[in-house]
Amino acid sequence: MTDKKAVLNIDGFDTEIDLPVLSGTLGQDVIDVSSLTANNIFTFDPGFTSTASCESKITFIDGAKGVLLHRGYPIEELAEKASYLETCYLLLNGELPDAAQKAEFESIITSHTMVNRSIEQFLAGFRHDAHPMAIMCGVVGAMSSFYHDSIDINDPTHRMITAHRLIAKMPTLAAMCYKHYVGQPYMYPKNDMNYAENFLHMMFGTPCDMPKVSPVLANAMDLLFLLHADHEQNASTSTVRLAGSSGANPFSCIAAGIAALWGPSHGGANQAVLEMLNEIGDEKHIDKFIKRAKDKDDSFRLMGFGHRVYKNFDPRARVMKKACDDVLAELGLEDDPLLRIATRLEQIALEDDYFVSKKLYPNVDFYSGIIMKAIGIPTEMFTVIFATGRTVGWVAHWNEMISNPYKIGRPRQLYTGPSQRSVQAMDER
Ligand code: ACO
Repeated sequence: MTDKKAVLNIDGFDTEIDLPVLSGTLGQDVIDVSSLTANNIFTFDPGFTSTASCESKITFIDGAKGVLLHRGYPIEELAEKASYLETCYLLLNGELPDAAQKAEFESIITSHTMVNRSIEQFLAGFRHDAHPMAIMCGVVGAMSSFYHDSIDINDPTHRMITAHRLIAKMPTLAAMCYKHYVGQPYMYPKNDMNYAENFLHMMFGTPCDMPKVSPVLANAMDLLFLLHADHEQNASTSTVRLAGSSGANPFSCIAAGIAALWGPSHGGANQAVLEMLNEIGDEKHIDKFIKRAKDKDDSFRLMGFGHRVYKNFDPRARVMKKACDDVLAELGLEDDPLLRIATRLEQIALEDDYFVSKKLYPNVDFYSGIIMKAIGIPTEMFTVIFATGRTVGWVAHWNEMISNPYKIGRPRQLYTGPSQRSVQAMDER
C-alpha cells in the first residue's frame, strides 16, 4: 500500500470512489479495483492487458528493459551459474540451494522419476500418431488418479511432494509420449544420470542401443529447461492458477496449463517457428514472407517475433541465441540452411520499420526450436519440452497461491447479447 490513491469519477454517480494504489518491490504501481464490486462496478480489460491478477514473489519481468528475474536473480546469471534443478529449487523455495541442499534435492527428484506402469496402458489407448501434447494433457491429468496419499492441497508437505513428483516425472512422461509417437519401447529413467542426460537417454535410447549422451547436448538441454522454467503470469500459468483457485487437484491444474501452452500464440510458437522456416525454404523467399507478415489482410505472423510483455529483446532469447551458436558449432551445423534463413530473417526484422516501430523482437521460441532441431528433437516434441521445463513455474505459482489467502477466480463480463425475451412455442417460431 502507498499513500497514493486513484480517484474514480463516473458520470451519473453522486460520489467519487477512492481506490488504493499498491506498490511492489519492483515494477509499476497498481490500482486496487477490488472494492468496485461493492458499488456494482466492474472493469473491462479483454486479454488482461492492464490487469495484475495476483500478488507474487516468484518472477519479475520488465518488458521495456528486457529484464527477467527469478526470486531477484537475473536469468542470464542463472543460466551461467546454476543448473535447471537449482533453478527449480529456487523457484519453489525462494533461495538457491547450498551444496548439501542441492544434493538432497537432486536425490529427491531422482527418486521420483519412474511412473506407475498403468500409465503405459493408458498411453496405448492413444492413436499411434497422436500429437505428443495431446497425450501430455491426458496423462498428466490422469496422474490425479494415482496419488491419493498426498493430494491434500491444504497440507504444505503434500504440496511439496506433488511439486517434486511433477518435476521428476515430466521428462519420463514426455519421453514416453515421444516413444508412443514413433512406436518404440519406453525407456526407464536411469538414476545415475542427471536430469537433462536422463531425458535425452529416455528420448533417444532403445533397449537395443543406448548411445552415450553427449555432455554438450545435455548442457544445452538443461539450459533449455532452465530458460523455460517460469515466466510470471503468462497464459498457461494464469490458467493453472485459475484452475487451482477452485481447489482442483494439482495434476489436473498442470494438465490445464499444458492445454493453454499448446496454442501457437504461446508455447506452440516454437513448433510454428520451425514449420515457418521450412515453409520459407530458401533465403530468396524471405522478403515475400516479411511482406505477408506486414499485410493487415493476411493472418500470417512472423512466428517467434513479438511478445505481450517484452517490448525489447527477450533476455532468454539472447542466452538461447548464444547457446544455439555453441551447439551448432559443436555439431558442425553452422551452415544449416534453416539456420541461415533464421539469421537472415532476424536481421531483416530487426531493421524493418514495421517490426522496429511495433517493438517486435525475437522471442525465446525463435531460437529454442533451432537448438532442439540440432539436438535431434522432432518438431512435434518442442512444446512438450517447453511444458516439461515450465512445470516447476506452474507448480511454484500454484503452491504460492494455495499457501496464501485466495479466492476462486471468477471474472465478469460486458454482456452484449439479447435483452430478456420470452420463448415462443415451436409453431410460433
Ligand atoms: N508478426 C507480424 N506482426 C505482428 C507479430 C508478428 N509476429 N506480432 C505482433 N504483430 C503486430 C500485430 O499485428 C499488431 O499490429 P497492429 O497494431 O497494427 O494491429 C501489433 O503487432 C501488436 O500485436 P498484438 O497481437 O496486439 O500483441 P499481443 O501482445 O496481443 O501479442 C503475441 C503478442 C501473441 C506474442 C504476438 O506478438 C504473436 O502472435 N507473435 C507470434 C507468435 C509467437 O512467437 N508467440 C510466442 C510468444 S512467447 C511465448 O509464449 C514463450
